[in-house]
Amino acid sequence: MKMEFTPQVSGSIHPALAIAGGQPVRTEPLPLEFPGIHSMNEEEIEAAVGVLKRRSLFRYYGIDAPREVERFEAEFAEFLGVRWAVGVTSGTAALNAALSALGVGPGQEIIVPAYLWVSVISAVVNHGAIPVVANINDTFGLDPDKLEGHITPRTRGIIAVHMSGAPADIPAIQSVARKKRLWLVEDCAQCNGGSIQGQKVGTFGDVAIFSFQMNKNMTSGEGGCVVTNDPQLFRRIFACHDLGYARDDSGRLIFDNPDLRLWGLGVRLDELRGAILRVQLRKLPRTIARMRQSKYRIRQALEKFSILQLRNIVDPAGDTGCFLITTYRDAATARWVNRALRAEGIVTSDQGVSNVLMTDWGLHIYYNNVSLVRQASVDGQGFPWKLAENEGLARNYSRGACPAADSLFERSIILAIPSCLTEKDEDDIILAFRKVLSSLPPV
Ligand SMILES: Cc1ncc(COP(=O)(O)O)c(C=O)c1O
Repeated sequence: MKMEFTPQVSGSIHPALAIAGGQPVRTEPLPLEFPGIHSMNEEEIEAAVGVLKRRSLFRYYGIDAPREVERFEAEFAEFLGVRWAVGVTSGTAALNAALSALGVGPGQEIIVPAYLWVSVISAVVNHGAIPVVANINDTFGLDPDKLEGHITPRTRGIIAVHMSGAPADIPAIQSVARKKRLWLVEDCAQCNGGSIQGQKVGTFGDVAIFSFQMNKNMTSGEGGCVVTNDPQLFRRIFACHDLGYARDDSGRLIFDNPDLRLWGLGVRLDELRGAILRVQLRKLPRTIARMRQSKYRIRQALEKFSILQLRNIVDPAGDTGCFLITTYRDAATARWVNRALRAEGIVTSDQGVSNVLMTDWGLHIYYNNVSLVRQASVDGQGFPWKLAENEGLARNYSRGACPAADSLFERSIILAIPSCLTEKDEDDIILAFRKVLSSLPPV
């Protein structure tokens, strides 16, 4: 029988832990995450109302078209330092448009990290290709040293995902992709505004995608974007996000381009969201600065505890700060610390996901994706798993497929850092960590 881990409480030094019936550090829930939402005010309202007043909600034409989406795309491209940006309805839509543009289809293996979001997998599967789950390292991004081991003659590309606010080791991943002549997509949904040595994430790959869903660093509730520096890919992304064809400047479809007779996804961004995103983009640096400041104040306070390991951040100056990950010596300690912190009040109200053991982090963890583990298909006929083109391709999706990642997930806790934490909220988080960690026997 497995024994529940119970730490020794050195009661004379530390106050009684809330998990043992003592007084919690706080009783009020922490603020909900939703980074971009906390700065939302009259500016977004005016932007949205402005579009409604002009009664022109469609990007290509209208009674008095404000061309908000077009302007947003130009401004976002400039912010990142890329040539083109294409606004879409979600990050999932952006992934699908990117993979369509890259010509993903049956018979291809696409490498994805063990720590990701379900949309990365679904975009690959919906295109008829096979996802290959690769290990992560202590950056919680793809482990560049393990990548080559996953590459076969059928591998076509790598999707690197910058998870939980901080960039993966994308320069090293980019080197492997270049060496092996594979395309590289960056999923920046959780790391909008992040960078490495001043270079923004989203500019390392052939294509990058962003999400503006409500949990993201800037938001319009739903929304996304695909960016690239490659003119041919841009034209294909544009056609694929729309109806499968190019358009002229006035929005009319062009059918006589033989390279752009494709299939569209119908995921164009609308003017209302384009207008809101232009405001949110202006606020993004401030949103990030607030989260970073809170996170690094807490990180600094935790540095002296040898009982935990802080996530390896490739470049702290380019961390967007929206999550703090701490890792412990074993699964039992991590689970106990998480429960003890939650008992101390380090938790949001019910709808928030502020403080979780990473194994319980839902569809972010490859083996929690039931449809993947079971190789589900929407047609009931085994698409794409049973396609002749996919026969014999490597696939192992159950827990145990990526031991290094599995070990990190069961030993780590993820804590959301909202963009509106007060100094008192930060103090409480630090105090709760101190109280809980001090009660653990030293390593
Ligand atoms: C890493 C990652 N990729 C893609 C997506 C999909 O974005 P959306 O929810 O806008 O479809 C998300 C959303 O949470 C995400 O976290």
